[in-house]
Amino acid sequence: MLTAYDAMSAAIFDAAGIDLLLVGDSIGNTMHGHTTTLPVTVDDMIPAARAVAGAAPHSLVVVDLPFGSYEAGPEQALGTAVRFMKETGAAAVKLEGGRRCAAQIRAITDAGIPVVGHLGFTPQSEHALGGHRVQGRGDEAAEALWADALAVQEAGAVAVVLEMVPVDVAARATETLRIPTIGIGAGPRTDGQVLVWTDMAGMTEWTPRFARRFAELGAALREAAQEYASEVRAGTFPDAAHSFER
Ligand code: KIV
Ligand code: NA
Repeated sequence: MLTAYDAMSAAIFDAAGIDLLLVGDSIGNTMHGHTTTLPVTVDDMIPAARAVAGAAPHSLVVVDLPFGSYEAGPEQALGTAVRFMKETGAAAVKLEGGRRCAAQIRAITDAGIPVVGHLGFTPQSEHALGGHRVQGRGDEAAEALWADALAVQEAGAVAVVLEMVPVDVAARATETLRIPTIGIGAGPRTDGQVLVWTDMAGMTEWTPRFARRFAELGAALREAAQEYASEVRAGTFPDAAHSFER
């Protein structure tokens, strides 16, 4: 699984054979210049999800319920999920939280909409969690995470993302659950993996420890822009081959 926020990246990842595309609320950080996911709205997510779903005929598209669009209760959560399904072409929704969101997951699931859970470090709660920290460290926290994972499964979730949890905590959740686990910063012993595509492709200077830069697209793009500007300034672009005669 990779994130995607527009048709261009979605078409590329779909052609690459990525099984699942996540229209993540990380769009707030990666595309909209926010420092957290908290300001992201349903109206931000809908055009992004529509663009991704329209450009990805093979990948299964999952869209995040943004902060403030589901916490109030099952009715609010179902309302948001129904809007996403009607207006975007996505196949599933994702929301953050375990036992506290079980009623929301159940309501959306009962309406025939697949739900992906998200446990461990949940960015929408980063102020309550005290920043970007590994979750599920220590016996009590590990037990709480496993209880949340079971609650998410019992509420009907079709899969669960585990973000920034110790390897053995993620591995035990993976062994215990019937539904697939998808890890990010959760080690190799999950059923699947997810990364934010701009991290995966080296688009930005800073990369979280758990992400690997599989390319240096940011540097390549900067060099292309520098080359373009310097050829324009030198008068060597456009040349005859890129111009029209009358
Ligand atoms: O929004 C996002 O990109 C996510 C992934 C990190 C799982 O939720
Ligand atoms: Na997210």
